[in-house]
Amino acid sequence: MKIAIYPGSFDPFTMGHLDILSRACSLFDRVYVAVLVNGEKQPHFTDSERCAMIEACIRYAGLTNAFAEKNSGLLAEYAKEKGACAVVRGLRDAADLAYESRLDCANRYLLPGYETVCLMARPQMNFLSAGIVREIAAYGGDISGLVPEPIKNIIAERLKNT
Ligand code: PNS
Repeated sequence: MKIAIYPGSFDPFTMGHLDILSRACSLFDRVYVAVLVNGEKQPHFTDSERCAMIEACIRYAGLTNAFAEKNSGLLAEYAKEKGACAVVRGLRDAADLAYESRLDCANRYLLPGYETVCLMARPQMNFLSAGIVREIAAYGGDISGLVPEPIKNIIAERLKNT
């Protein structure tokens, strides 16, 4: 069985994340969406909230081979524990590529045999990030095309006027 990890902060999960996850689900037998800690970011939603939102999106998209989990440890350890053959990341631009290259090198140092599979973001989602969603939502702007339907209201209500 080919197992992949799709890790991230997912603060919050966006349409871009859902697109990458759907495509990963067609490439691998099982995909674990791992809500991990990024030491350089202060999350707006708790890890349990982010996991619950991802689970709602997985159900909404009918992805029967995707599972959301939170983990407070190293990605390399988590990938090893799950027996994953690859870690999936989405790429939008050259800045993402530079960041992903460093992440891949650090994880490869920790876990020989570690492999990153990068999936290119669709052009129409190239601008999309969790940060953009948070900023638009904070001003009460329309985020309906940016995040999956089942989590739209939770995000909008929570981030308005923040
Ligand atoms: O969505 P993000 O914030 O770009 O995801 C980054 C994330 C969470 C995947 C990365 O920070 C991570 O792997 N965190 C867990 C700790 C770890 O293993 N760091 C990499 C080795 S330096």
